[in-house]
Amino acid sequence: MITARNLKKIYAMGRVEVHALNGVSFDIGTGEFVGIMGSSGSGKSTLLHMLSLLDDPTEGEITIGGEDVLTFSDSKKTRFRLQKFGFIFQDYALVPELSALENVILPALARGVPLPDASAAGRDYLDRVDLAGRKDHLPAELSGGEQQRVAIARALVNNPDILFADEPCANLDSTNSRAVLDLFGQINKELNQTVIMVSHEDWHREYFDRVIRLRDGKIEKEEILKGNR
Ligand SMILES: Nc1ncnc2c1ncn2[C@@H]1O[C@H](COP(=O)(O)OP(=O)(O)OP(=O)(O)O)[C@@H](O)[C@H]1O
Ligand SMILES: [Mg+2]
Repeated sequence: MITARNLKKIYAMGRVEVHALNGVSFDIGTGEFVGIMGSSGSGKSTLLHMLSLLDDPTEGEITIGGEDVLTFSDSKKTRFRLQKFGFIFQDYALVPELSALENVILPALARGVPLPDASAAGRDYLDRVDLAGRKDHLPAELSGGEQQRVAIARALVNNPDILFADEPCANLDSTNSRAVLDLFGQINKELNQTVIMVSHEDWHREYFDRVIRLRDGKIEKEEILKGNR
């Protein structure tokens, strides 16, 4: 269970302040598949960064599993993220010097999984995103959509309790998008993982239990879609 209360994020740009989040509150239950939607600049990535403890809100509270996570030290936040979260960045954030497989297994190694087990899990997830044949390629040797799928495999390799995905299908065609959404739907159901996914595409709504729609850093509306699947 995740609770967010009155989240505000103000970015200071010289003398100008950007109010990226303007008081956002909601609860997300364990095992929910939630879509975050809204126009460009509405605060979707900012919200994901706050919830996943990558950045601190200017104001507000976040609890995850009953823990007041914003009071954690930086090292405790890092450990918490490694143990519980998977994150797919809007710009993938792959390590350019590492192969696809090495990128995927990085979070597993950081968590202390022995190399052979991490490699086996990494191969399995690369296979699940249909990239078994690209495991030794560097990111620069992969297409945009392939890099995105490597980032997806990396986010899933530790079987995270909570998967944060920032437009994970932005560079995929509809067939690959559907494969990724089916994969998220499957892990969400089978492993009861919570999935919080930013999306621009209306047809993705068929996968979501609920949509939180942002506008100018505020919740414009919430739509319950449960029962869709
Ligand atoms: N690091 C930053 N410094 C200053 N302003 C920022 C920063 N990050 C985001 N912003 C501003 O905050 C607002 C929300 O940005 P955010 O990236 O959360 O939007 P978004 O909904 O994810 O948009 P998109 O759909 O284009 O990815 C925007 O006006 C953006 O310019
Ligand atoms: Mg964004």
